[in-house]
Amino acid sequence: MIDCHCHILPGIDDGAHTFETALDMARAAAAAGIQDLVCTPHHLNGVYSNPGSVVRHALQDLRERLAGAGVPLRIHPGAELHLVPELPSQVLDGTALTYNDLGKAALVELPKAAVPMGAETILEQLLYRGITPVIAHPERNLVLVRNPERLAEWVARGCKVQLTAQSCSGDFGERIQHISRHWLELGWVHLIASDAHRPTGRSPTTLAAGRAVVTEWLGDQAASLLVCDNPRRLLDGADLLALAPHANPRRIRMRGRWLGFLPWRRRAR
Ligand SMILES: [Fe+2]
Repeated sequence: MIDCHCHILPGIDDGAHTFETALDMARAAAAAGIQDLVCTPHHLNGVYSNPGSVVRHALQDLRERLAGAGVPLRIHPGAELHLVPELPSQVLDGTALTYNDLGKAALVELPKAAVPMGAETILEQLLYRGITPVIAHPERNLVLVRNPERLAEWVARGCKVQLTAQSCSGDFGERIQHISRHWLELGWVHLIASDAHRPTGRSPTTLAAGRAVVTEWLGDQAASLLVCDNPRRLLDGADLLALAPHANPRRIRMRGRWLGFLPWRRRAR
């Protein structure tokens, strides 16, 4: 598997705080069957600023330390970029890192409870410049959950969608799990990633659990597309493939409308 969203670089955001923690995360990832992992520290979110120069340096340092420790995990550059007006210009000049530093696709995040003003304009600017926006965990955004047609429009225009593995396995509650399944069945989702921050709990190992659940829902071929084939295409700078829709669109539309109004429920853990 390839984990295309992970906060493993130590000391630069709210992910791993130390090299020892990063090493534990890397060992956990390798043990869970992850061969490649994209380092995606936050950038431009108002708290953390991690321009390309910082990420490249931290990545090289961690690469050398992982090799020294004998951990069989390849790591690649990336960033989780907040959707702000200066994003397109920063992506173009390399300040904001794209996947594998290729200038082809960029992981973009939204606040949990809002979609920023002008979001569509920023996404259009990226698309116009040949950068594919990959929307990080939209199933955890309150506005998109209540207005899924907005996400559908973004996908129709060329954006891609990444779900968090724990959303699929139910760790964030039944509602988010149902929405994740619903969007997967509609064929809107292109990637599943761990968004790991720690060696345990929000860990890279959650990718395997998420894959297992999606395999139950959609079969092994679809699950492999989301955690192996499409992440590999991201690293290679190739276009991502779409899932085939799996369910009746009319039934799904009604279910989606209903899900948007369900109260938040967390699963007892
Ligand atoms: Fe993240």
